[in-house]
Amino acid sequence: VNISFVETRPGDPAIVVIPVGGETLEQSQLATLGEQDRDQTMRAAASARFELEAGTILQLFPGQADTAKAIVLLGIGKDGNDADLEKAGGALSARFLASGDEALVINVTGLAVTGEQVAHLLLGAVLRAWRCDEFRTRWKPRQKPSLNAIIVVGAASDARKAWTDISCVADGVAFARELVTLPANVLYPESFVERCRKLADLGVEITVLDDHQMADLGMGALLGVAQGSRRPARLLVMRWKGADADPVAFVGKGVTFDTGGISIKPAAGMEDMKWDMGGAAAVAGAMMALAGRKAKAHVIGVCGLVENMPDGNAQRPGDVVTSMSGQTIEVINTDAEGRLVLCDAITWVQKTHNVKTIVDLATLTGAIIVTLGHEQAGLFANDDALAEQLMAAGAASRDKLWRLPLGDAYDKLIDSAIADMKNSCGAPASSITAAHFIKRHVADDVRWAHLDIAGTVWTSTPGATWNKGATGFGVRLLDRFAADALEQR
Ligand code: BES
Ligand code: MN
Ligand code: ZN
Repeated sequence: VNISFVETRPGDPAIVVIPVGGETLEQSQLATLGEQDRDQTMRAAASARFELEAGTILQLFPGQADTAKAIVLLGIGKDGNDADLEKAGGALSARFLASGDEALVINVTGLAVTGEQVAHLLLGAVLRAWRCDEFRTRWKPRQKPSLNAIIVVGAASDARKAWTDISCVADGVAFARELVTLPANVLYPESFVERCRKLADLGVEITVLDDHQMADLGMGALLGVAQGSRRPARLLVMRWKGADADPVAFVGKGVTFDTGGISIKPAAGMEDMKWDMGGAAAVAGAMMALAGRKAKAHVIGVCGLVENMPDGNAQRPGDVVTSMSGQTIEVINTDAEGRLVLCDAITWVQKTHNVKTIVDLATLTGAIIVTLGHEQAGLFANDDALAEQLMAAGAASRDKLWRLPLGDAYDKLIDSAIADMKNSCGAPASSITAAHFIKRHVADDVRWAHLDIAGTVWTSTPGATWNKGATGFGVRLLDRFAADALEQR
């Protein structure tokens, strides 16, 4: 969807959208309509009980005097907050995406709508319009998306600037959704890397370690997972240096497909495991957003990319591997592979860059879905201030987080009889013990947070700003965290 800003309403017939908010509909909000259309709209709104809630839509047809194809009142809620504006924009897209209409004219002339509010309305519209159609070849014309342009008329002068920044976040979310949506025969470690190469055009420095380089560095945990696959592993490093500061690391779990390995998963639902790289996708999307809007932050995004498969060379339950940290791990369950990938990625970034803050994102445990469902992601942290910053960013971006505990008694559960630790210790508190496994690879003086996003990466029900499928969870969160916690210093 192409977005543009103009001063006056174009003459050609189009759907004209008027965003309306507040307690009740006022004549003055419809000042851009002729008198007759205004009266009729007021009456129609009353008889339809149109109450201006965010995302409600009232569609009418104007009299001869107006060239509009239709007039659409779009409710934006009582106080015009960001969430309501995004919800309204999303509702607009959902309604008109495949309606046969190609353009929407959003007329805010004379309305008390700020540039920032316009940008959030557009963000909602663009995010809700995202879809992946590249594998469809037999579609009836009327099923195809028709909407390709949104023209904003009469917005505040700062709307364009606000949209320029926010559209970079929309691009990052779209990129993450694309990576999450692609099937594992298309998206595997090497092709994940190739798709991220375009970030170089935005000024992101890209470094890739192949499996041989990782072997030389001693990344036995990550490579132990990869050895059951024909697809070689990669470590993708994306660096955005928008400020002269010590870097902060975002680390993502990028298991491009998780069969479970020899501890193989049941067949039902296994196709979902194409999105076991949602953490890596969030990191890539966030790097795109930050570089796109030239964020004044120094961030290193690291994606540990492997495929977890059960072939003749796969690792076995009971195998002992040595991670890059030098610590040994008894692989009790080859399906607890995410932590094996993350621990080496996290060790690498601490040894290679002077990072004092790490945020990792991973579709790590099924248990987090039992705990928090699909509403919010689990947050674990060794530092209260960092946890607070992430919680605040989550609330502001609507990529919501809920903090769960760490503790010595939980940590003890991953002690192994034969090695320094084991990668699985059964069901009780398994999201927490997974977090402790990662924590054992983080230096004491490094602030660290782990986000278990297994429940929030993919959805079977449409939401305010997404259709069913990939949500892009984490991109807006990390962008907001960077904006509020890193850029404001
Ligand atoms: N990728 C899965 C976690 C997952 C499960 C994400 C379901 C989304 C939906 C992870 O690699 C895994 O298999 N975790 C196991 C760990 C267990 C073997 C300790 C789990 O949560 O069951
Ligand atoms: Mn697994
Ligand atoms: Zn997994």
